[in-house]
Amino acid sequence: MELAWLIWSSICLLVVSLIQFFRGKTRNVSYGQLPPGPRGWPLVGNLFDLGEVPHQNLLDLGRKYGPVLWLQFGAMNNVIIQSSKAATEMFKNHDLTYSGRTITDAMTACKYHEGSLAVAQYGPYWRTVKRLCITALTINKRVNETISLRRKGIDKMIQWIDEEAKNQGGVQVGHFVFLMNFNLLGNLMLSRDLIDPQSAEGPEFYDAMDNLMKAAGQPNVADFFPFLKWLDPQGVRKKMEDAVGQGIHIVTGFLKERIEDQKSGEQNKRKDFLDVLLEYEGEGEGPCKISERDLVILILEMFLAGTETTSSTTEWAMTELLRSPEKMNTLCKELEDVVGHNRKIEESDIEELHYLRAVVKETLRLHPPLPFLLPRRAVKDNNFMGYHIPKDTQILVNVWAIGRDPDSWDDPLSFKPERFIGSDIDYQGQHFQLIPFGAGRRICAGVPLANRVLHLALGSLLHCFDWKLDSSVSPDSIDMKERMGITLRKEVPLKAFAKKRNVHYGIN
Ligand code: HEM
Repeated sequence: MELAWLIWSSICLLVVSLIQFFRGKTRNVSYGQLPPGPRGWPLVGNLFDLGEVPHQNLLDLGRKYGPVLWLQFGAMNNVIIQSSKAATEMFKNHDLTYSGRTITDAMTACKYHEGSLAVAQYGPYWRTVKRLCITALTINKRVNETISLRRKGIDKMIQWIDEEAKNQGGVQVGHFVFLMNFNLLGNLMLSRDLIDPQSAEGPEFYDAMDNLMKAAGQPNVADFFPFLKWLDPQGVRKKMEDAVGQGIHIVTGFLKERIEDQKSGEQNKRKDFLDVLLEYEGEGEGPCKISERDLVILILEMFLAGTETTSSTTEWAMTELLRSPEKMNTLCKELEDVVGHNRKIEESDIEELHYLRAVVKETLRLHPPLPFLLPRRAVKDNNFMGYHIPKDTQILVNVWAIGRDPDSWDDPLSFKPERFIGSDIDYQGQHFQLIPFGAGRRICAGVPLANRVLHLALGSLLHCFDWKLDSSVSPDSIDMKERMGITLRKEVPLKAFAKKRNVHYGIN
């Protein structure tokens, strides 16, 4: 039986790749030249060029073939953009053409993609939900109204770390930032502490989201050979179906509870994300109605988009600082000067904390959590910098490579926050040499929120604790290997020793 499948799949693969080969030839001749790239293997194309760390391997290929690279992953056409100049051209002149999204097979589990904002195709539904999510959660006004929730979340994180440091010694920083973020989103969206010993659904929901992130970040052969989708050869869609199904079940429970509360006249103290979505009645053009199911998917998506991105950035920032004790000292000194010892760091301090802001920028330059942004898709045939790009080509913007582009950055491989002092370069999508949140229409929906959380979390970790490495690890020997999952994380999680400083922080 298995042998028959193998033979059958091989025949299909052969037919598909022959069709592809001849289609590729025809396109080349009739429409113009594709961007340069290495010759691929029969059937699989350039899949082997990706390796374990695709962002690094593709940068190496870019050095040989140039910043606009053409690669074939099985049946999928890809363009990789790897310089600030090419990114500027893309976002200034081709943003609309490249504003579609690739929908991976995993994302179709339980029809997740139909409610999603992040993988919605550019159009009325995307426009409506993006506006709605930004208004409900991340617009500056909203972010200002929720300062106390972040304060509460950070205080809890400090307390957890203090307890862990006393009980265990070494602290896995990224893990605690992740928990804080998860809880923060629980409060912002659902007015619930999800990481709370008293919460019954919390741990169950946490597990479902953890499984969802693992499945969503797993490379899947069915994405490169669409005729294998029905077979789900690695079981990725099945894992995703289980996780999304469980997530939907739990969030639907929260939703029903809220609707019951509203019916019985019990108002939520503060209008949260769920209230705003429930109040939305549909407006404007086209198919903009948001169903109850869409609403649940949007909530799951905010957890997916907003947790690991922020925690892995904070973990990389701590790692870089522990590798450069003099930069760590500069930052601690700034915190001492601006905030002092008698109070907590507040969001209103961020403006004055120039070195802290420079550290966050430098971390995002070297360690963007989404090194290829979220894959875009060309919605029509087009010409890009003299090359023909066929409709449906996947566009990957290698922001990891762009952050190392020597045409934009002096000494690009070194961690030097000082480069941002006195510079107006920011990561809000206007400066194409630094675009960890993307740019253009599909720019991240969470920038103002992520911005506050990153600064407050990192600032508080350093204001509150003195951090040391284990005596067996020297700053130079910290493991900097990367692991590609849903985000680009440290392969070996950072573990460091935290000693509480003599700061009035409301904990004993
Ligand atoms: C360090 C933190 C974060 C980073 C680096 C980050 C990065 C990104 C990137 C690169 C994209 C794709 C942009 C593009 O295609 O051009 C994206 C999209 C998105 N992000 Fe974030 N993100 C972060 C935090 C958040 C947070 C906190 C939220 C919300 C709670 C969020 C919600 C979204 C959504 C909904 C999208 C899809 C936008 C669309 O397709 O139009 N992100 N993010």
